[in-house]
Amino acid sequence: MPAPSEKPLIAALDIGSSKVSALIVTKDDDGRLRVLGTGQRESRGVKRGFVTDMESSEVAVREAVEIAERISGVTIDDVWASFGAGGLVSDIANVEVELGGHQVVEDDVNELLNAGKGAIDRNGQVVLHAQPALYTIDGVEGVKHPVGLHADRLGVDIHVIAADPAPLRNIDYVIRSAHLGVRKIVASPVAAALACLTAEERDLGVALVEMGAEVTNVSLHAGGMLVGLRSIPLGAKDITDDIACAFGVQRRDAERLKCFYGSAMTSPRDNHEMIDAAPIGGDEGGEPTRITRAQLMTVVRQRVEELTNQIEVALKSLGFTGPVGRQVVLTGGGAELKNIADYMQGVLGRAVRVGRPRTLTGLPEAHGGPAFSTLVGLAMLAGQDARDLTDLPAAQRAGKVANGFFGRMLAVLKQSY
Ligand SMILES: Nc1ncnc2c1ncn2[C@@H]1O[C@H](COP(=O)(O)OP(=O)(O)OP(=O)(O)O)[C@@H](O)[C@H]1O
Ligand SMILES: [Mg+2]
Repeated sequence: MPAPSEKPLIAALDIGSSKVSALIVTKDDDGRLRVLGTGQRESRGVKRGFVTDMESSEVAVREAVEIAERISGVTIDDVWASFGAGGLVSDIANVEVELGGHQVVEDDVNELLNAGKGAIDRNGQVVLHAQPALYTIDGVEGVKHPVGLHADRLGVDIHVIAADPAPLRNIDYVIRSAHLGVRKIVASPVAAALACLTAEERDLGVALVEMGAEVTNVSLHAGGMLVGLRSIPLGAKDITDDIACAFGVQRRDAERLKCFYGSAMTSPRDNHEMIDAAPIGGDEGGEPTRITRAQLMTVVRQRVEELTNQIEVALKSLGFTGPVGRQVVLTGGGAELKNIADYMQGVLGRAVRVGRPRTLTGLPEAHGGPAFSTLVGLAMLAGQDARDLTDLPAAQRAGKVANGFFGRMLAVLKQSY
């Protein structure tokens, strides 16, 4: 068992549908994060992002963390964990306090934010993130720094991301069963965005599509925040399952076919390329099934088309329409499928790039791919001291609240797309 460490440690844990991955980083004196170790295990007991078997998933969590601890030479007490399954909702709450015309001081802002925290009522849902956006002074919107200004009323828009309590409780329980504390549960798209979007992209407006094994999360970012999200209960593993069904091969072989020969773009040469669908000797000396690459591509393409159509519907419903030019960033393990960004660019009619997590010092190459955006983003979020109302102590007093679903900020967004 490795010895406890004196250094500031941050541990990130991403419980996905296909893999559980852990990352331990430390913060150097210059404030930069440095990776000490990583660990990964095949995920068990997780379906479409939801924990469905406590015991199996607890073992996978424990083992992934133990590997990371062994490599790091440290032990960790608690983790920053992700939640990426369906049921995440984003909303905007507007809070206001009366100031009676005096000059705004830091305490007024803190009081307003505390009022905001107390005012966010999600009808039984758990608030994961509550980030203050721009301030409003006497009805004038878009104030970045209210301190020092005179005001009768000070208001703020608060971006809220919430989820149903039961699935969160299950994740919490699994982690605690693995003898670890839970520092915070973070919505996956918030973490992934931090890891693979630039600050400028998040400010100007960008869509992030994280295609995992069983879930695809589509989120919109503008003004440096997540301003809308949709979850699609489909992912890259559905392509694997389709291949396994179509050619009667095991999932393991279907996965190999997808990763080695699969692509989102077809080519006339696909008709002439023969592939062994089941490897020779893999199945008690049975005859290998031979297919053309074109046959494989038909299966892959069908599912990719369905996924892309659903992504397009999600983008439209979020108001990400209008003039060409707004970028889509594709991440998650599904972004590894050959030519998928090219294919989506054609269908969506806008620039699509694959987003990989920005390199942290010491991050092994094996954990630098798009499948690790959420994991790396968790550590990045933990390492920064961004203001989130869920981190504040209990609310002191509640202000006037106007809850508008996808309120004003999104209305502004819609106009500009
Ligand atoms: N080279 C590749 N070509 C095609 N697909 C790939 C490739 N590499 C990985 N994938 C797919 O990426 C998926 C795993 O993605 P990821 O690790 O992001 O999922 P997860 O986090 O475990 O699941 P989720 O987020 O959906 O709960 C698998 O279905 C895998 O087949
Ligand atoms: Mg994932």
